[in-house]
Amino acid sequence: MEFLFNFRAFCLFSLSSRCLQVLPFLVFRLQCLSFLQDVTLHQVALSMAENEVEHEKQNRIKAKVNIEEPSEELLEWAKNNINEDPDTRDLLISELKDMIYERGECTPSRMDDEFILGFLRARHFNLRIAHRLYVNHSILKEEAPQYFDDVNLDRMVEIVKEPIFNVPPNRDHLGRRMLIFRIGEWRPSEFTPTELLQFVVFLTQITLLEPQTQIKGAILLVDLSGLSLEMVWYLTPTLARHVVNLAASSFPVRLEAVHFLYTSWIFDTAYNIFKVFIPERFRDRIHFHNNLDTLYDDVDPKYLPNSLGGAIDDYTLEDWMNDAVLCNKKVIDVLGKAGYPLKEFLARRNNNK
Ligand SMILES: *[C@@H]1O[C@H](CO)[C@@H](O)[C@H](O)[C@H]1NC(C)=O
Repeated sequence: MEFLFNFRAFCLFSLSSRCLQVLPFLVFRLQCLSFLQDVTLHQVALSMAENEVEHEKQNRIKAKVNIEEPSEELLEWAKNNINEDPDTRDLLISELKDMIYERGECTPSRMDDEFILGFLRARHFNLRIAHRLYVNHSILKEEAPQYFDDVNLDRMVEIVKEPIFNVPPNRDHLGRRMLIFRIGEWRPSEFTPTELLQFVVFLTQITLLEPQTQIKGAILLVDLSGLSLEMVWYLTPTLARHVVNLAASSFPVRLEAVHFLYTSWIFDTAYNIFKVFIPERFRDRIHFHNNLDTLYDDVDPKYLPNSLGGAIDDYTLEDWMNDAVLCNKKVIDVLGKAGYPLKEFLARRNNNK
């Protein structure tokens, strides 16, 4: 608490010394088409027929959550890069399960093969480290169930309409899933930090259904433009720790890089709160950019959306949700098992119309 108080005092000090530099900005948001209203079950059935990624025009790619078995090529890559061997995979899955039960370091949550495989892929099939990750994950779920359980889907749908998060339909030059977080678009009066994190967990779980994302990993682009002191205000040490845990040490994901874009002094201040929680091994994956040129050294702009100066047409999260998630019956089924009853939710929305 004292730490927090000092931090706030420091912010106030910084604010007064920098004066007008960061006076409140206005965020005008384009409210896009209303999410879900257009999704009828009829449409769901129609779109299920189109299984392949569609190249509508050169840069317009239709988003898809591909949960099919990995291709030969991807398996070959996995063998060479993350030690995934189809011949020993099942054995390792059952060894990891045994380890989880025998060591008893946590109350096992999900134990199905698909779920366990995610932890192995996230940690290069190193049993010991994958076990650690599973334990970390279970502990976080117990310590912070508010991010995982009884998530209000109506609220998640509200967040989808905001420009806060984005998932480009394409992957980066290395085949990694890209996630974009525009924190400056967050209106703290509308959504609580807990709701934002619930959404992050939801979104991450969807992208992690894809074997390619499990195998190649993901990168996170955090656009800091518009970050205000008011937002930083909400950042308690506990919240910072939860964010770092989700990103770096308690989720079956290999987050290969985090790029902070348009860094500012406000960010530097906030980052100090995070820093203590970031594991050593993760630090060199974090990159800071005060303009986009240095980002392009790391991520080829050919694969970035227009809004980040790249060549790919922007795609709203709402479009992504409609095109890639709500049209895919398999995805909806798996998400139901993961605790997100989307099917019932859609049916209810449809009946209320
Ligand atoms: C588990 O969590 C600890 C503490 O956050 C972290 O240092 C460690 O790297 C995590 N283990 C894995 C495998 O991510």
